[in-house]
Amino acid sequence: MRKILILSLVTISFLSCNQQTTKKIKSSNPIEQKVDSVLNLMTLEEKIGQMNQYNGFWDVTGPVPSAGDAAKKYEHLKRGWVGSMLNVRGVENIRKVQKIAVEDSRLGIPLIIGFDVIHGYETQSPIPLAESASWDLEAIKKSAQMAAKEASAAGINWTFAPMVDISRDARWGRVMEGAGEDPYLGSQIGIARVKGFQGKDLSDPHTIAACAKHFTAYGFAESGKDYNTADIGLSTLYNTILPPFKSAHEAGVKTFMNSFNELNGIPATGDKFLQRDILKGEWNYEGFVVSDWGSIMEMIDHGYAENKNHAAELAANAGSDMDMESYAYVNELASLVKEGKVSEEVITDAARRILKVKFELGLFDDPYKYCNVEREKEVIGSKEIIDAALDMAKKSIVLLKNEDNILPLKKNGQKIALIGALASDKNSPLGNWRIAAKDDSAVSVFEGMKAYVGNELNYAEGATLYAGKTNFPSELVLNTTDKSKFQEAINIAKKADVVVMVLGEVGYQSGEARSRAKLDLPGLQQELLETIFKVNKNIVLVLNNGRPLTITWADENIPAIVEAWQLGSQAGNAIAQVLYGDYNPSGKLPMTFPRSVGQVPIYYNYKNTGRPGPKKEVFWSHYQDESNKPLYPFGYGLSYTSFEYKNLKTKVELGNIKISVDVTNTGILKGKEVVQLYIRDLVASVTRPVRELKGFELVEFNPSETKTVTFELTKDELGFYNNQRKFVVERGEFQIFVGGSSDTTLKNTVEYK
Ligand code: BGC
Repeated sequence: MRKILILSLVTISFLSCNQQTTKKIKSSNPIEQKVDSVLNLMTLEEKIGQMNQYNGFWDVTGPVPSAGDAAKKYEHLKRGWVGSMLNVRGVENIRKVQKIAVEDSRLGIPLIIGFDVIHGYETQSPIPLAESASWDLEAIKKSAQMAAKEASAAGINWTFAPMVDISRDARWGRVMEGAGEDPYLGSQIGIARVKGFQGKDLSDPHTIAACAKHFTAYGFAESGKDYNTADIGLSTLYNTILPPFKSAHEAGVKTFMNSFNELNGIPATGDKFLQRDILKGEWNYEGFVVSDWGSIMEMIDHGYAENKNHAAELAANAGSDMDMESYAYVNELASLVKEGKVSEEVITDAARRILKVKFELGLFDDPYKYCNVEREKEVIGSKEIIDAALDMAKKSIVLLKNEDNILPLKKNGQKIALIGALASDKNSPLGNWRIAAKDDSAVSVFEGMKAYVGNELNYAEGATLYAGKTNFPSELVLNTTDKSKFQEAINIAKKADVVVMVLGEVGYQSGEARSRAKLDLPGLQQELLETIFKVNKNIVLVLNNGRPLTITWADENIPAIVEAWQLGSQAGNAIAQVLYGDYNPSGKLPMTFPRSVGQVPIYYNYKNTGRPGPKKEVFWSHYQDESNKPLYPFGYGLSYTSFEYKNLKTKVELGNIKISVDVTNTGILKGKEVVQLYIRDLVASVTRPVRELKGFELVEFNPSETKTVTFELTKDELGFYNNQRKFVVERGEFQIFVGGSSDTTLKNTVEYK
């Protein structure tokens, strides 16, 4: 068998390299020795082959391709010129491509199989922004663990997740894929996801390699327009953008992906400062960096590379180890080495990094270890995975408003009017990045609410959302004219005790290339909401969306608002359980909601400026026509119960700041609260934000229960990077804030000496 051949080659060569006194064995780690022994057998072209990643290239169940691009890729696979494939899925298909790599190529090096397992594989959990609203690190870790379990059962062993890009701009469609605006929360969530995907042992067949992306500053695209330029200073880079990447690295993430954007004039893919100096230098990262899709080639359009040959040279020298679909490395690198423009050490280093991850995954021991048909059938869509998706969905919901306790809904004797195209939509809750999910497989809100049979439930669409196709990757065309379905909705609303309106964005309205210049309810939905409000004010607005929206009118007029994002396969059940009070919501916003688009970028950890105001005269930092305040601040979210914070105590002990606060559940229901800790460094050599999240604790309380919640801040947690890229901790006064939102006013001041 071929597998045996590889193994014996590895062993023989390991022995022979041990006999070579000149050969440098980098460490006594057996995996690194095995990697070296394989490298020893490889030609230059085979090493370059490891750096080449192809998209799934032919219907692997069909005949072998004999012409065109697919035939070329097939030929490259047989020659050992492909290190990885993406978007091949399903055990049967993956076994077939793996078999070509393992049995037909000279050395039989197995492929690493990548896929965007962003929030689940076939079963979808909530979109990452929604999960982040739970602030529940255990649940988030479990969600990634379940995604890894399902994806690995389908043959996948590498996910392009987590996306740890911080973003302060809701116009950017990819905010749905991240953890929001804050570097501390983003770091904690990134760590949880890496640990969930990779587990304790990467060779366990239920775990997969993770990928911290997109390195870097992709979330700072100017004007929120995807792929756009980022131009930022060192302070923002080091204190806001890099921390989640560094944390993911420290949590052991096996791979990084670079990004499409340029940063300060250099495309990230060709940026040596980012990849070699910071990542592989300062951080000593030993995994590999994959380019983003075609991003090596795109350096030509950026105006940075003359042609593909030049692009390959720039990217390889800058530290991009694997080429995703640019065909630049496979076609250009060998000649670049011969011309001396790229050194063979660069190639060997990249191949070493890639082979190391393959060894860690155990692919050299058994290239088919993820290809078990029985496991695939058993695990995909199993009860364990569906239950976890439901649990995560409930934890992700944020209650934004609940006047006069209109929620939870009574379970009996009520007439409920359910209105909105999204209420019966079984596709949108799956969100974007749900490639392996079956279309229309989510539980809709309508279905979820039908399970509560004590009430009369009537449904009307109200307004069709889109005039054309809403599937991937069509450009969405909004319905802005057809109001023919309004009347039916008005009719059922008039007769109802409570109206539940499900409004927002379709699943493909956020995600890659889905930037928006407006953040309102798209199409006719705002008009529909106002029309229904005229006939029945008792409205519960359920939002389904992939980003913060400017729902200022709704906040002023609608008594109850529930932020339900795109919650995945179990969305409708989760929403119904929250609406009916079977689950008490505890989510908190991971991103600020603006009042109007003109406020964007808007974020809680802004700088004070020299003219903070408010002042009587006009000369302070503000808008003439809009408040400085957000609609809902970062960290905000209500519960069906209420919490009171008292007795904030702070003291400096042994160089650390000890903080305690008494939190009481003042309501009559059991509930959970995210207790948040913020600091403000009042005077520093580089100005610091007005607030910075430094800790949080998710605590459950019985009715009337008081708990003392404690935090301890170490010296390092008070520090920051200055403009010389040096981490400094400076003495002086710090304000300490504790509360249930970033706008908490409960504070103490401590002197840190
Ligand atoms: C995205 C990446 C993704 C890759 C592979 C790109 O367009 O930016 O995040 O992992 O495609 O699907």
